[in-house]
Amino acid sequence: MTKREVHFTLNGRSVTYEVEPRTTLLRALRHHGVTSVKRGCEEGECGTCTVLLDGVPVKSCTVLALEVEGRSVLTAEGLVGKDGKLHPVQQAFVEEGGIQCGFCTPGMVLTTYALLKKNPDPSEDEIRLALAGNLCRCTGYTGIFRSVKRAAELLKDQA
Ligand code: FES
Ligand code: FES
Repeated sequence: MTKREVHFTLNGRSVTYEVEPRTTLLRALRHHGVTSVKRGCEEGECGTCTVLLDGVPVKSCTVLALEVEGRSVLTAEGLVGKDGKLHPVQQAFVEEGGIQCGFCTPGMVLTTYALLKKNPDPSEDEIRLALAGNLCRCTGYTGIFRSVKRAAELLKDQA
């Protein structure tokens, strides 16, 4: 199949990918080494492929790569500081045991990041609702909800 170019901003840098029209954003990112974006169900069900598209969480398996022309994509790699320091949201997941196998974690972290940008002090219900599209088969979610609360504290301290 003929490939086409798509130009977009990935983690603050302009990139150009050559993709087939049927290639999903998930597959294009992973093909180019962006491996924090995990391939789970590829049916929009598990949320492990979540990225932020213009700041909004989307399941990258449900978006064609060509659809992100001129847009901005953020993945977990883009949250890490230039000095290699984890973002407070990532740090919170480490501190609070919000990670076991880690497969769901990049998606959880990005969804949390987007939630706290919009709502810096979410209630337990708001956290549960925000993360409803991100499935975890390991943690039982308690550690994840604690991580979101800790992330809110760390971000508040930083502000
Ligand atoms: S891999 Fe995209 S939602 Fe499961
Ligand atoms: S930590 Fe394993 S799936 Fe969530």
